[in-house]
Amino acid sequence: MTDRSAAVTQTNEDRIAWLRGLRQSRQFLDQTIPPDVLDELLEVARWTGSAKNTQPWEFIVVDDREMLRRLAEQGAYSGFIAGAALAIVIVLDENALRSEAYDEGRVTERLMLAASVHDLGSGTGWFSTDEAQAGVRALLGIPDGKDVWSAVAFGYVDESGEQRSAAAPGGRKPLAETVSYGRYGERKG
Ligand SMILES: Cc1cc2nc3c(=O)[nH]c(=O)nc-3n(C[C@H](O)[C@H](O)[C@H](O)COP(=O)(O)O)c2cc1C
Repeated sequence: MTDRSAAVTQTNEDRIAWLRGLRQSRQFLDQTIPPDVLDELLEVARWTGSAKNTQPWEFIVVDDREMLRRLAEQGAYSGFIAGAALAIVIVLDENALRSEAYDEGRVTERLMLAASVHDLGSGTGWFSTDEAQAGVRALLGIPDGKDVWSAVAFGYVDESGEQRSAAAPGGRKPLAETVSYGRYGERKG
C-alpha cells in the first residue's frame, strides 16, 4: 500500500506531490475505519470554511453494509460506495444556493484530504437526478427542507482493484490550455 500519510510530515515538495496526487478511490478492502479516525474526519468537516460561515451542511455517517449497498444503487456512478467501509452523506438546505454547492465541494475535498492523511482512500458519489435524490432521502429519512446531492465514501484502498471509472477519462489538460496571464487568452511565453 502506498504510504501517503508519511508524505504530509515531509518536505514541501512531498506535500505538494501528496496534494497533486490525491485521486478518487473506488475499490476498498473489507477493513473498518477506527472510530477516532472517523471523529477526526468529522472535526475537519466541521472546521471547513463556508460562505459567511453559514455551515450549510449536516452529515450522515453510514457504515451498515446493506445500507451502503442500497445507497450505492441510487446514483448513476455511485456503485463503488457499496464496497466502502463507510460513507458520509452530505445534507444541505433545500434549494441550495450556488455558495452552498461551493461549500459542499469544499467540505468534500477537505474530507478526502483528511482521509488521505490516515492512508484512507475516498471518493465522491453524485446523486444528480431527482429520482436518485428521492431514493437517498427515503433511505436515510432526510426531511423536507433538506437537499442531498452527494456522499463521500471512505476505506482502505484495495490496490489490486481498478480505481478508475470507465465514465471518466484520467489525466488533465495542460496548464497551457487553462491558464491566462493578465488577460483572458494570454498564454505564457
Ligand atoms: C461533483 C463531482 C461529482 C462526482 N461524481 C462521481 C460519481 O458519481 N462517481 C464517481 O465514480 N466519481 C465521481 N466523481 C469523481 C470524478 O470522476 C473524478 O474526480 C475525476 O474523474 C478525476 O479523477 P481523480 O479524482 O481520480 O483525479 C465526482 C467528482 C466531482 C467533483
